[in-house]
Amino acid sequence: MAAYTVTFCPSGKSASVAPETTVLEAAAAAGVPLHAPCGGQGRCGKCAVQIAAGVDEVSPAEAAVFSSGELAEGWRLACQARVLGDAEVTVPASSLVAEHRILVDGVGREIVAQPNVRKVALRLPAPTVDDQRADLDRVLDALGGEVLPPRHLAVLQSLPEVLRSSEYKVTAVVAGESLLGLEAGDSSDSAYGMAIDIGTTTVVAYLCHLPTGRVLAVVSELNPQGQYGEDVISRLQLAASGEEGMSRLTGAAAEVVNKLIARAARDAGVPAEEIYEVAVVGNTCMTHLLLGVPPLGLGAVPFLPSFRDARTVRAADLGIAINPEGLLFVVPNIGGFVGADTVGVMLAGELDRAAGVILAVDIGTNGEIAVARDGELYACSTAAGPAFEGARISCGMRAAAGAIDELTIDHDVRYHVLGEVAPLGLCGSGLVDAVAELVKAGVVTEAGRMRRAEEVSDLPEKVKRRLVENEGGIEFVLAWPGETDGERAVCLTAGDIRQAQLAKGAIYAGMTLMLAEVGAGPGEMDRLLLAGAFGNYIRPESAIAIGLIPAPAHDRVESVGNAAGVGARLALLSVAERRRAEEIARRTKHVELAELEGFYDQFADAMILRPLPAES
Ligand code: FES
Repeated sequence: MAAYTVTFCPSGKSASVAPETTVLEAAAAAGVPLHAPCGGQGRCGKCAVQIAAGVDEVSPAEAAVFSSGELAEGWRLACQARVLGDAEVTVPASSLVAEHRILVDGVGREIVAQPNVRKVALRLPAPTVDDQRADLDRVLDALGGEVLPPRHLAVLQSLPEVLRSSEYKVTAVVAGESLLGLEAGDSSDSAYGMAIDIGTTTVVAYLCHLPTGRVLAVVSELNPQGQYGEDVISRLQLAASGEEGMSRLTGAAAEVVNKLIARAARDAGVPAEEIYEVAVVGNTCMTHLLLGVPPLGLGAVPFLPSFRDARTVRAADLGIAINPEGLLFVVPNIGGFVGADTVGVMLAGELDRAAGVILAVDIGTNGEIAVARDGELYACSTAAGPAFEGARISCGMRAAAGAIDELTIDHDVRYHVLGEVAPLGLCGSGLVDAVAELVKAGVVTEAGRMRRAEEVSDLPEKVKRRLVENEGGIEFVLAWPGETDGERAVCLTAGDIRQAQLAKGAIYAGMTLMLAEVGAGPGEMDRLLLAGAFGNYIRPESAIAIGLIPAPAHDRVESVGNAAGVGARLALLSVAERRRAEEIARRTKHVELAELEGFYDQFADAMILRPLPAES
């Protein structure tokens, strides 16, 4: 079959692809990471590129996104345009997935390292006529007689040679109750593990020294499943489409895990074969996909996972490149869309043992909320949508270089841009600031309506000029084209305000209803833990001003960073913490918010843009 070369500018990267391949697929093959929030369905318009020739006719989806002038300039959607010849594709910065700022630190707490995998140095007596024990019995006896034989034949096969070549000075690798391997000499200090938080958008991994719990390397990557759609729903649809879809998603999960393991091992100067265990947290969909279990039950009411309990599998069976006998432990799920990552947050925040009323909110691509009152535990997921991750916002982007992450309005708009570069868009914390400041300035009403310039006559002139009207409606310009890279202004539209209201309404309603489950109101909350990158960077005063978090929480907010990742580390480094995670998952009552009485009323009420509950 003929193959065509597709070259991407300005990077110069290229790929050789078959006819009819989409430009989005060609970009993935060339290693050019394009935005594809809608999963390539031609709806979001975020994969816009310019192509002069070598592709098919404009599709109806593209005609709906671009004006006739833009089409004449060669603008196309990479997910729709199909390659019919050699092509040169120009990719604007706004269509590229920028290098990601990922939160990798988290709430730390002191634990005693007591990992599942431990190494024991042994000096065994050599066989004599008076001591005719078999090789394996010799090893197991030295371990106190309580360790079970290896499950894998390969370990037994290597045993005679290891014992004799090392003159019976060996190190036993023990996982739980079983012998995992035998190494020549004393390698008892060379034992490592990985704790991994697989998020829908990002994957963060920690390489730890098992005997001491020290973190030797922290690495992160975007989840490559993002090329199949940025939200969980798109991944569920692909997984349900058949074996090929499932194998792509599982392959992408293994690929990113292996990449992180290799990078962390290299950074820390540790051989990957000395990594014996990987502990994983992630939302329910992510852990299913990693294990290759089709999450079919999650795709439809009543949204059931295929497994809930913790799982331990051989890492090699999933293609994970650590010690060939190494294990992979997955922290348990709570149910539905409340996964192992929520258990990780609850474990890190010690919700199971906290006194008083404590609420933990993890706002990422999905939002999860857990509440505890003196050991009583509840958790839910919210239908908040990914607005605070920048998706479904016209100039939205993730918290990467070029994102406006802080914004204030006085005589004019002032903002801070991540990476100290020209602004490309707006991330979640910038969105919350922008909405709060526009409400404060009177540009947006508490009901979410954007006023026209003539309705806000008392505004400073420079601010008023930013209210512009075009065929799409009213927009507020946060950064003019001269301030950006010159292509487009960064604006906030009436539709964006609506998306922010929907997201914050869902989160706020979720918080108040979860508090009600333990018989508490917002004023009775003792601590509010905000987990995840967004939770770490939002300004609490802006979040309170628009009613995203309850007003009485102002002095009780604690940003706990990547608490899910801390939970994974705890499960890796301590068997007691692992058991505790299992107990948390068992004890936590899974709440379906939409089934709670009054949910829709609460949701509608919470869409108002002012401090909540109403200040008296
Ligand atoms: S329009 Fe192409 S990925 Fe959404």
